[in-house]
Parts: sequence; structure tokens; C-alpha cells
Amino acid sequence: MRFLQLLAAGILAPVTVVSAPASDPSGFLQQYKRENLCNLKSPPSLCQPNSSVTVAETALRAYKFYRAFVVDGDPRTMFSLIDSSYIVRYNSGPQTIWSLFCNGNKIGTEASTAWCFDASTNMSYARYSTTDRWRWVDGCVHEHWDQGEKIPTDKCYKLNTTSVR
Ligand SMILES: *[C@@H]1O[C@H](CO)[C@@H](O)[C@H](O)[C@H]1NC(C)=O
Ligand SMILES: *[C@@H]1O[C@H](CO)[C@@H](O)[C@H](O)[C@H]1NC(C)=O
Ligand SMILES: *[C@@H]1O[C@H](CO)[C@@H](O)[C@H](O)[C@H]1NC(C)=O
Repeated sequence: MRFLQLLAAGILAPVTVVSAPASDPSGFLQQYKRENLCNLKSPPSLCQPNSSVTVAETALRAYKFYRAFVVDGDPRTMFSLIDSSYIVRYNSGPQTIWSLFCNGNKIGTEASTAWCFDASTNMSYARYSTTDRWRWVDGCVHEHWDQGEKIPTDKCYKLNTTSVR
């Protein structure tokens, strides 16, 4: 079974790692680290827009964003995927949501929540108690909605789980 299937099956429990192990050069497992960063006044780093980022890479980033935001409680990874604009309905900019997410609280498990990336619109979705929608631009989360959103049922990108692992 592939890594994501193992995760979904609950066979691989999320692990706490302090730094990327040698067997994880891409740092993928690092996203399971829970960090409280509320001692920092601002996100440690934001996403730098890059027009060369492909749709496949964006889909993988959208999955990592969902993991960091919903399942892992990983503000460092979450904000590293948000650009400096981060447009929401009333208060734009990543600084406006930093205090909500800096403590790294987990919102739900993969089994109790849902995720989708729609490559035809560059929108990603996360469903937990509410449903969020984000627009990805140049490989970064750029814009956010959370009013009356629904996850598409038929257009969700199938991640290349070989490259995820
Ligand atoms: C932009 O993205 C491309 C494709 O992922 C990558 O090869 C390149 O190194 C990136 N450029 C910067 C400045 O990060
Ligand atoms: C989605 O993003 C890709 C680059 O990752 C871009 O080539 C494409 O035009 C975008 N599609 C839409 C509908 O904005
Ligand atoms: C999936 O990822 C692997 C490893 O990065 C790569 O060799 C393979 O070509 C990818 N497959 C697709 C369909 O992109």
C-alpha cells in the first residue's frame, strides 16, 4: 500500500519528528511536527509566487496545505504556502489569520475531513466543520472563501502518491 492509503487506513499514525530524518530528504514527514509559534509576531516565512510551478506541483502543495491546516496543526508549513496578499472577504493579509493558527491546533483527521484540488480552476477545498475554498496563483494560496462552499465530487485531482512519498 502506498503512504497515503496507509495514512487513510490509520496504519501510519501521524508521528512527531524534530527534524527531517535521513530517509525523508524532501522533508515530507516534517509536516507532522506540531509547533506552537505564537511567540512569533508574524509567520516565519510566506510563499514566494513562482509562475513556473506546475498544476501537478500545485495539487501537491494544496494537499500539504490541507494537511498542515486541518490534520497536522503545522503553522510553519501552512503559512509557507500562503502568499503575502491572502485575500479574504474583510481582512486581507496572512497577518490577520496568524494569531488563529500560530498555536498549531489540529482540526480533524483525514478520516473525519475532506480535501480536493480542482485543476480546472486552481481551487482547493477543505471540509471540516465548515468548507473552505482557496484559489492558488503561481504556486501559492492567494485568496480564500468560506461562505456556502461545497467540495466538488467529480473534479478532484488524483495526486501522484509516488511523488508524495
Ligand atoms: C520556480 O518553480 C520551478 C518549478 O517548480 C523551480 O524549478 C524553480 O526553482 C522555482 N524558482 C524559484 C526561484 O524558486
Ligand atoms: C492554473 O494554474 C496554472 C499554472 O499552475 C495555469 O497555467 C493555468 O492557466 C491556471 N488555470 C486557471 C483556470 O486559472
Ligand atoms: C509520479 O512521481 C514519480 C516520482 O517522482 C515519477 O517518476 C512519475 O513520473 C510520476 N508520474 C506521473 C504520472 O506524473
